[in-house]
Amino acid sequence: MTSQYNSRLLLISCCAIVAVLLVLPVSMSDLYAQSNSDMCYTCHADIGDDASEAYANSIHLKKGVSCAECHGGDRRSEDMDDAMSKSKGFVGKPKKDDISQLCAKCHNDADKMKSLGSSITTGQYSMLAASVHGSVEGGEGSELIMECTTCHSVHDIRKTSDPASSVSPGKVVALCANCHNDPGYMRRYNPSLATDQLAKYRTSTHGMRNARGDVKVATCVSCHTAHDIKKASHPSSSVYAETIPSTCGKCHSDSEYMKSYGIATDQESKYISSVHGNALLEKHDLSAPSCNDCHGNHGAIPPGVESISHVCGSCHPLNAELFRQSVHKPIFAERNLPECETCHGNHGIKPATVEMLSVGEGSICGSCHSSENGPKGYAAALEMNQLLDSLMNTIYYAEELLHDAEQKGMEVDDIRFALRDSRQARLQSRTTVHAFELGKFHEGIDKGIKVAQNAVNDTQEAIDDYFFRRWGLLVVSLIITFIVILLYLYIRRLERRQKAAAAS
Ligand code: HEC
Ligand code: HEC
Ligand code: HEC
Ligand code: HEC
Ligand code: HEC
Ligand code: HEC
Ligand code: HEC
Ligand code: HEC
Ligand code: HEC
Ligand code: HEC
Ligand code: HEC
Repeated sequence: MTSQYNSRLLLISCCAIVAVLLVLPVSMSDLYAQSNSDMCYTCHADIGDDASEAYANSIHLKKGVSCAECHGGDRRSEDMDDAMSKSKGFVGKPKKDDISQLCAKCHNDADKMKSLGSSITTGQYSMLAASVHGSVEGGEGSELIMECTTCHSVHDIRKTSDPASSVSPGKVVALCANCHNDPGYMRRYNPSLATDQLAKYRTSTHGMRNARGDVKVATCVSCHTAHDIKKASHPSSSVYAETIPSTCGKCHSDSEYMKSYGIATDQESKYISSVHGNALLEKHDLSAPSCNDCHGNHGAIPPGVESISHVCGSCHPLNAELFRQSVHKPIFAERNLPECETCHGNHGIKPATVEMLSVGEGSICGSCHSSENGPKGYAAALEMNQLLDSLMNTIYYAEELLHDAEQKGMEVDDIRFALRDSRQARLQSRTTVHAFELGKFHEGIDKGIKVAQNAVNDTQEAIDDYFFRRWGLLVVSLIITFIVILLYLYIRRLERRQKAAAAS
């Protein structure tokens, strides 16, 4: 009895489930339409036109945005003519900038979006209008170079996190390249703009990984943003020189985000504390390199071991030229040592100091050269250091003497001016050191020492002269005083004689 009852119940339940399963797929959208009484969608879905098919998967349908929000008309009317009548505000197919204005109605209005239960970022229209894509001169009824729908599609708009979205990382590169890879199209707007960004991007680590489906690497919009794209020279551009370190750092400084790749995440912090970062970010010296000056804009690959001197050499040409002709060039290449980086580092480059040029513990030269190992380099480094010491000591001594002379009120500007050449020799030595050749180094320093020694001699002479003149003056004034006293006494005697003569 019980078992019979149970099996009947089971049968009924199964039928019910099957029935529900059969009905469910067809009625999902109906359910939506009924609950919103959106007859536009209901009728168009029945017809099965492209617009409603595309709309079926969109975020707008899911969020209850009606066809009538963009096209106007009466979404409750089941009658086609009535629903789509002008008197009910039907506008038909929106055109050109009217399209973006439609999107702006919601997406540029934070309150409206909130009332629709959404808290996503707003203001895309304002950004687009102020961006490089925002204005076109003589645009035949269109002020924007493109509409929102150029990138997002019209009806199949999805969450940007959905891989099927037209702007997902897998698709956005081709989207931008649609125009930017087309010289014919780009020439109409800006003939001077390069059209090789995609080609270069594909040679970069970013581009190669992107082509293989890696969604975490940088795409065009990671660096340029999607809506707020500005020319690189614009201070509020995401690729303005001073902003680039933080643009790259969004990913490269995020150890959690970069974990699966196993590369360092200290490039930005090291860069900020470097001589370059300090020059660019603190002194606003735009001639100092940002990340892209060493890595390229679109070909962001670390410069190869062999090409680092070319990268650095674009701004430090003399150092690079000397290095390339030096003994170290072939030796470093053979040992796969990264040229300039071996001694200076890459992201955390510090001001070069004379300490680098020594053989002591922790010194640069001393890290490879010792009295047993590479003794010639060891001897050279040692002697260079001593030469610099001599030069600096001589300059220091000359400065002291000059100061002394000036205190005595002596005129030594000429000597001070000449001494500048020895300081210049010190500066030049910082560059000539890159020949790693003792002879060449000697030449420059010797000249500097000679100039400084001359300054010492000249100042000394001037001071001697000063003393000589001071003693001379003393002697002369003593003699004069003596003569004056004699004269005085003589005159007194004369007077006395005259008085005596007059009295007698
Ligand atoms: C009862 C069916 C029905 C209803 C309701 C309906 N439409 Fe249509 N709609 C059609 C058909 C059929 C066409 C194609 C007619 C044509 O090509 O002239 C069409 C055409 C359109 C077009 C294209 C116009 C053009 O110029 O190419 C748009 C846009 C449109 N409908 C939007 C709406 C909107 C918005 C609503 C609700 C306010 C709506 N429709 C309600 C059946 C309907
Ligand atoms: C977010 C705004 C928006 C919504 C919502 C929207 N449309 Fe459209 N629709 C547009 C725009 C913009 C165009 C013009 C596209 C173009 O010029 O290519 C368009 C064009 C059309 C066309 C003409 C297509 C053609 O190829 O000529 C039809 C039909 C249409 N929409 C129907 C619908 C229907 C039905 C719905 C609801 C299921 C709907 N639209 C929802 C913005 C919208
Ligand atoms: C040049 C292509 C392009 C144009 C034009 C464009 N978008 Fe986008 N949009 C994108 C991309 C790419 C993303 C994804 C952003 C990301 O991954 O950081 C996006 C994201 C969005 C988002 C998600 C929230 C956000 O800001 O990330 C909204 C909403 C949006 N766009 C609306 C619009 C509207 C409205 C317009 C027109 C005023 C528009 N978009 C024009 C490419 C574009
Ligand atoms: C009636 C208001 C309304 C209009 C008009 C409208 N949208 Fe939306 N849109 C929404 C809402 C609501 C969402 C859902 C936001 C959410 O998920 O929180 C949305 C989501 C989106 C998203 C996905 C954002 C994300 O979080 O990834 C994009 C992209 C988008 N809309 C683009 C457009 C474009 C392009 C147009 C014009 C063709 C447009 N919208 C017109 C209300 C609107
Ligand atoms: C519909 C075609 C089109 C699409 C799609 C497009 N652009 Fe553009 N873009 C242009 C045009 C045209 C200009 C030139 C504007 C000018 O110089 O007046 C431009 C300018 C630029 C500039 C400024 C160049 C400069 O320094 O002068 C950048 C950066 C840029 N686009 C990036 C992108 C990115 C990133 C995407 C994809 C999210 C994209 N563009 C999608 C047409 C397009
Ligand atoms: C890793 C960051 C990064 C990526 C990814 C990237 N760009 Fe750029 N882009 C830059 C930088 C940096 C500049 C130039 C800055 C400068 O001139 O100082 C630039 C410049 C441009 C320019 C101006 C013309 C030029 O070539 O100098 C255009 C156009 C452009 N990018 C489009 C794109 C497109 C399209 C993509 C995707 C295929 C893309 N960018 C990917 C960083 C990037
Ligand atoms: C959206 C996140 C993101 C942004 C923004 C980004 N990158 Fe990357 N980058 C990555 C990821 C992920 C990798 C892959 C790491 C790997 O392959 O080891 C990568 C790889 C690299 C590599 C190659 C590393 C290697 O060892 O091969 C360089 C160099 C690089 N990025 C430089 C830059 C520069 C410079 C910028 C800014 C102009 C930048 N990236 C912006 C995510 C990003
Ligand atoms: C002065 C030139 C220079 C600047 C500026 C620079 N880099 Fe590098 N970068 C290099 C060199 C050189 C390498 C290493 C090449 C090698 O040894 O394989 C490198 C390597 C990298 C790598 C690979 C992983 C690693 O650490 O070795 C990434 C990622 C990277 N840089 C990102 C950045 C970012 C982000 C910035 C800006 C904050 C930046 N770089 C600024 C020269 C530079
Ligand atoms: C073997 C180590 C070594 C290598 C390799 C090296 N340097 Fe140097 N660098 C030095 C030393 C030592 C100094 C001088 C320090 C001092 O005298 O104050 C210096 C100083 C400098 C200076 C500051 C002085 C000036 O000329 O303005 C720059 C810039 C410089 N190096 C750039 C480079 C570049 C670029 C490369 C690659 C082409 C490079 N260095 C390769 C050791 C090296
Ligand atoms: C885009 C140009 C540029 C590039 C590329 C560049 N530098 Fe520099 N570098 C500068 C400028 C400008 C300064 C001066 C900063 C300051 O002190 O104001 C500087 C300073 C230095 C100094 C400190 C000089 C001193 O007086 O102590 C060293 C060392 C140096 N760079 C090495 C390198 C190396 C190594 C590379 C390659 C990995 C490199 N630079 C790439 C522009 C560049
Ligand atoms: C990365 C290792 C390394 C560093 C750092 C280095 N050297 Fe060398 N150097 C070598 C090697 C290897 C040779 C080949 C001959 C040898 O073993 O002495 C060499 C050769 C030389 C020579 C030529 C010796 C000869 O045989 O005529 C001189 C001079 C020299 N180095 C000076 C220096 C000075 C000065 C510094 C510091 C600024 C320095 N080196 C830093 C590795 C290095």
